[in-house]
Amino acid sequence: MSETNTIAAHGGTLINRLASAEQKKEFESKADHLPRVTLDKRAASDLVMIAIGGFSPLTGFMKEADYNPVVTDMRLASGVPWSVPVTLSVTEADAEPLQIGQLVRLDDETGRFIGVLELSEKYTYDKKKEAINVYRTDEDKHPGVKVVYEQGNINLAGDVWLLERDAHPLFPDYQIDPAESRKQFAERGWKTVVGFQTRNPIHRAHEYIQKCALETVDGLFLHPLVGATKSDDIPADVRMRCYEIMMENYFPKDRVILAINPSAMRYAGPREAIFHALIRKNYGCTHFIVGRDHAGVGDYYGTYDAQAIFDEFEPGELGITPMKFEHAFYCTRTTTMATTKTSPATPEERIHLSGTKVRAMLREGKQPPPEFSRPEVAAELIKAMQA
Ligand code: ADX
Repeated sequence: MSETNTIAAHGGTLINRLASAEQKKEFESKADHLPRVTLDKRAASDLVMIAIGGFSPLTGFMKEADYNPVVTDMRLASGVPWSVPVTLSVTEADAEPLQIGQLVRLDDETGRFIGVLELSEKYTYDKKKEAINVYRTDEDKHPGVKVVYEQGNINLAGDVWLLERDAHPLFPDYQIDPAESRKQFAERGWKTVVGFQTRNPIHRAHEYIQKCALETVDGLFLHPLVGATKSDDIPADVRMRCYEIMMENYFPKDRVILAINPSAMRYAGPREAIFHALIRKNYGCTHFIVGRDHAGVGDYYGTYDAQAIFDEFEPGELGITPMKFEHAFYCTRTTTMATTKTSPATPEERIHLSGTKVRAMLREGKQPPPEFSRPEVAAELIKAMQA
C-alpha cells in the first residue's frame, strides 16, 4: 500500500502482516496439524496492531535482541526508538514442545484461529527488571506490572501473520487502520495532524487541550483506546458513545476524525506516552497530545513525567512532535477552561474532579457539573453507570 501523507511510518515502512488469500488458504489447510498457542486479549490485540502496521517497524513478537535494549534503553536492536516490550509470553510447559522454525497456530481466547507465528526464538526474561525499567515500579499492585508477573516465563518470538482483518464487533464504522487514516488525512489535505490518546470518558479538560492543539494544526485524530483496560475503567462502548455525542454537538466534522485504537493499555505512564506517540505516528499523525499524568495509574508517576521523557530523545528522532499540556481546569474567575499558564486563578477558583470522584458521583446518579463535563455526555454516563 503506498503511503499518501507526508509522515513516514516509524522505522520507514508501514508494516502489513495480513495474510494474503493464498497464505490464508495454506495456513488453514495446515491448521489442524500445527502446535497451538492461545493469545490473551492483550496479545491478540498486539497481533492485530502488528498486522495493520500500528506497531511498525515490528513484524512480530519481539526477539531477545530487541527486547533487551527496549527494556534498558528504549531502543530496538536497530537503534530505532521503542519504549514498551511487545512480547508473547507463555509457560515453560506450553513453550517446551514448540520447535524453532515451526509455524505456530495462534488462537484467541474463544479458540478461534486468528494468526500464525513463525517461531524464531524462545527466551527467558527478567520480570522484575522489565517492571522497574518499563513501569518504574516492581509493585504487583500496579496493573501493568501485575500482568508481567502473572504471564508465562518464556517469550516466544517471530514474525506473525493475521489471518483476517475482521470488522470490529462494536465499532465497525470507527475501525480506521493506519493505511486508511493516512489516506483520509491526505484526501482532506491535512499536512499536520494531532493524535489524541484516551482511555477515559471525554471531559471538558480533554476537549480543551484537543481544541487548543487543533488551533495550530490542520486536523485532529481522536483515537480512543478500545483494547483491554483495567476493570474499573469505563467500558469502551460507553466512552465511544460519549465521543459520538461530542462529534454531533461540539466538534467540526471537517477537522476531526474519530477512530478506534485497538491496542491494550499498559499503564506504563512515561514509557507508554512514547509508545502511544509512535503508534499515532504510524497512523499518520505529525503531533501527539501529552497532558497531565499521561497513561498513569495511582501515584506511580509524577504529573509531567510523561512529558519529560520525550526530552530523552534527540530532536526529530521520534518523528512525531509531542504537544504538552499542563493540568487543565475550569477557571471560575475567567469563566473559561484554562491552565495555570493562562489563568491567574487561585486553587479555590479551579474546578477539576478526579476520575474516582466522578465515578462515585455517576454511580449515585449525580450529574457532574457542566464545568467538568458536557451535560449530554454526563447524562450518557449516568445512564451507563446505572444500567
Ligand atoms: S490516558 O491513560 O489515556 O492518558 P486519559 O484518557 O484520562 O488517560 O487522558 C488522555 C489524555 O488527556 C492524556 O494525554 C492526559 O495526559 C490528558 N489529560 C487528561 N486529563 C487532563 C487534564 N485535566 N489536564 C490536562 N491534560 C489532561
